[in-house]
Amino acid sequence: MEVREDWKATTVYQIYPRSFMDADGDGIGDIEGILQRLGYLKWLGVETLWLSPVYASPQRDFGYDISDYRAIAPEYGTMESMKRLIEAVHAQGMRLVMDMVMNHTSSDSAWFEASRSHRDDPKRDWYLWRDGRGKDGKKPPNNWRSMIGGSGWHYEEQTEQWYWATFLPFQPDLNYRNPVVKRAMLDHVRFWLDQGVDGFRLDIFNAIFKDASFADNPRSWRPFPSEDSPEGFFQRPLHTIDHPDTLAFSKELRAVLDSYSHPSRFLVGEVFGSPEALKRYCGEHADGLHLVFLFRAMRTAFRAEAFRALIAEYEQHFAPPLLPTWVFGNHDRARSIDRLDGDPRRAALLAFVQLTARGVPFLYYGEEIGMTSLDTPFSSSLDPLAHHYGWVPDLLWPWMKRMGLFVHRDVCRSPMQWEDGHHAGFSGTKEKTWLPVHPNFRRVNVEAQRKDPNSLLWCYRRLLHWRRLLPCLARGEMRLFEDQRSRRMLLGYERSLAGEAWRAEIWLNFGTQEQALPVGDAPLAWFSSLEASVEEVAWLDRGVALPMLSEAALLVSRPTRLRPFEGVLLVHRHG
Ligand code: GLC
Repeated sequence: MEVREDWKATTVYQIYPRSFMDADGDGIGDIEGILQRLGYLKWLGVETLWLSPVYASPQRDFGYDISDYRAIAPEYGTMESMKRLIEAVHAQGMRLVMDMVMNHTSSDSAWFEASRSHRDDPKRDWYLWRDGRGKDGKKPPNNWRSMIGGSGWHYEEQTEQWYWATFLPFQPDLNYRNPVVKRAMLDHVRFWLDQGVDGFRLDIFNAIFKDASFADNPRSWRPFPSEDSPEGFFQRPLHTIDHPDTLAFSKELRAVLDSYSHPSRFLVGEVFGSPEALKRYCGEHADGLHLVFLFRAMRTAFRAEAFRALIAEYEQHFAPPLLPTWVFGNHDRARSIDRLDGDPRRAALLAFVQLTARGVPFLYYGEEIGMTSLDTPFSSSLDPLAHHYGWVPDLLWPWMKRMGLFVHRDVCRSPMQWEDGHHAGFSGTKEKTWLPVHPNFRRVNVEAQRKDPNSLLWCYRRLLHWRRLLPCLARGEMRLFEDQRSRRMLLGYERSLAGEAWRAEIWLNFGTQEQALPVGDAPLAWFSSLEASVEEVAWLDRGVALPMLSEAALLVSRPTRLRPFEGVLLVHRHG
């Protein structure tokens, strides 16, 4: 195994620390809580944990507004508990990736406070300050729009200038054209690498450099940006997003990671656009970010041909040595199962795609048990993005969602549903939890699904463990089977890896009708998305070897039909 490239075979689980597990009973999740639940994550079989920000922060954007990059927010723990977490994760053979918000700091950070205090302050140039237009300078310096709509320029009376913020006004952008700023931020990156973290998820990485000319952005007809394009709010963000200097910076950051000998560290960028555009962040020689999030899967229709086209596109643009990523949810989007009529069979089918197609899968906490979005009024949202759109009446919120503008993010951040007891086992507080627990927790929870080998949770668990068992899934090549014109509901592909004993054949039925499986070789074993076989349960729970692992493996008979929404994985002897 190529040691330096371990990250290529990993599976990532995103923890939103505020909502995962509350150990100290204040209604807010914490690091100690994550430590308590490591056993579960190990049982599940995920390999890398990505933590949304836990740094010191006024929490106005729940951690994506950092005031001190080298301290932990007291509600989450201390530097000492963070170090223990890193150690404990490593002791379990897992990895820990932190969220790194490089584009902006909190407006409460000491840097910004100094910067805004005086035009002559040595840190003035650490952020983007400009004179306004018009005779009294009260018009924004140019037409640039923020990522969330409206001008991203904010006027400060005290120094009579405007500062730039790509996101919310309390998240001022750093000036990366100042070499001192760049060095200071790279030092933060090194600080955490020195603590032993295994990499970073890079927050709105596409916005790091703004054009030095500060020229107006061209107009566009697109009303809203999407996962597929940052163009929106009637503007093409030519000078604000995807700047060539940001692409160059991805290589600089990569070089920092490469200077560490630890084999598995990686960077994954939050960037938006078509797969073709996004691959530029990985560098022409795979010398940029290791991975970028591909969000298109979140909007892909639940149809075989749609996923077939998506896989083909990913394969085209992220051919080796690049790797696609498979993302169905995160802390900024509605829960993925909402798009599937809340049907765990459909969710299990997408889990099959996510964990058996070529690429690095990113699971969002709770996805593995089919947690659904919280139904909570837009007008009482805690999310600052919802406040930004406070003028929108509750009635219009579903319409906005349909238009692709998702600004009520509380709905996907409700506490993890561990069991059917007090606060779903998330917190012991007698008071309210920071966001309410979803009322379906009595039915949808970890404890109930752990007992049921045919549950969605077990489907994830089985998939995660097969990926370990079958190197072709984690590292192999991928070949889509010929388009099944006569069987439009079926998607089929094969994974194989030179020199390995097994190859995997995967068939997925996206339809509501039973489908005949194409004829082919008899496998050594096969597994279904809808239920666990006796062998799998014995393998996972009692450590009994799977029959196909034995020398005298027998061929089992090939399944001939797929039930509605059933996926199967057939293991064959390779070559
Ligand atoms: C990213 C984060 C989001 C945050 C924003 C500003 O999109 O995922 O949660 O609000 O950046 O940092």
